[in-house]
Amino acid sequence: MNDVWSPIKVGKLQLPHRLAMAPMTRSRAKPDGTPSDLAPEYYAQRATMGLLITEGTQPSDDGQGYLATPGIYTDAHVAGWHKVADAVHTAGGRLFVQLMHVGRISHPENTPHHRQAVAPSAIAPGVDMFTIKGMQAIPEPRELTTAEVRQTVADFAHAAARAVEAGADGVEIHGANGYLVHQFLAPNANQRSDEYGGSMENRARFAIEVARAIADAIGPEKTAIRVSPGFPAGGIAEGRDNDDLYRYLAAEFDKMGIAYLHVLHAGNDALLADIRKGFGGVLIVNRPGRKREQVGSDVAASLADMESLGAMALANPDLVARLKTGAPLNEVRPQLFYAGGAEGYIDYPAIGPE
Ligand SMILES: Cc1cc2nc3c(=O)[nH]c(=O)nc-3n(C[C@H](O)[C@H](O)[C@H](O)COP(=O)(O)O)c2cc1C
Repeated sequence: MNDVWSPIKVGKLQLPHRLAMAPMTRSRAKPDGTPSDLAPEYYAQRATMGLLITEGTQPSDDGQGYLATPGIYTDAHVAGWHKVADAVHTAGGRLFVQLMHVGRISHPENTPHHRQAVAPSAIAPGVDMFTIKGMQAIPEPRELTTAEVRQTVADFAHAAARAVEAGADGVEIHGANGYLVHQFLAPNANQRSDEYGGSMENRARFAIEVARAIADAIGPEKTAIRVSPGFPAGGIAEGRDNDDLYRYLAAEFDKMGIAYLHVLHAGNDALLADIRKGFGGVLIVNRPGRKREQVGSDVAASLADMESLGAMALANPDLVARLKTGAPLNEVRPQLFYAGGAEGYIDYPAIGPE
């Protein structure tokens, strides 16, 4: 039986155990997209997790959709992330920066440039989002030209290089939860007639090109991607029709030899098993709402090499010690997820030596 507390190699990193902190947006960045001055402490507090995957971080200004999310494309961003990476490494941890381009899940009132959002096609997601003026319907985005799609691939590679320059151990492409990469994958969000739309191979092309460009820039051992097959976030409707696309992606990522594939498991067990078979590298599985007693179950069952935990890691800086000793867990305070400031961010207590 595989043990979640046994070590594992991810790329060239040796991890002490198999639990990762899932990527979580915290909306505390400075107005220019530099991480908050509190971010080094927040991440360093959680450095006993086997791997820290950061909050979604935009690779370009078009990639932003939510308020106060960080970027990783300017010198100021790099300097800010350097403080985070240094704090995490000093605390003995390892960190991958999640590159999140939101595509159409954006509102002009949330971005410094106030431009119309960009997407594979000019199709509004049909959902609301939080804006500076409260909840509002997301407006129709503008369709990227083919040249702009290629530029966006290059933006991802540039951001990945800057993340490594800032001291990150690698990057995770956000290909899940209804954001730009997922929009390309899903037929109801992608109705393009160029080589990035239509057939399964064409809809997968953007994800593959982004992964390849990043692997070329920083090395496949520092490149990872997250997907969420069938997860209906942000107006995505994939159904089982897209299962073959995910099998195809798993095989393509396998060929590239990336560091890991991170699956947000929305419940399609047969597809997860096929992805496991098709991808020979490290597979991280996130099961939304996983309970303490279920931690380690996917690794034990050989369904995954690692598991990621979101809210539990957010609310327990010393989660590993608590899980190992049976100590109680802190209560999650969701009202402070995106509240800004120190409260609900760096003030979750760790258990003392007693
Ligand atoms: C506050 C918060 C912010 C999140 N932001 C992101 C994000 O930036 N990128 C991402 O891929 N997933 C994001 N997620 C999803 C988590 O990574 C994870 O899939 C989800 O919380 C389910 O796992 P859990 O039940 O262990 O928390 C977020 C979740 C939470 C709670």
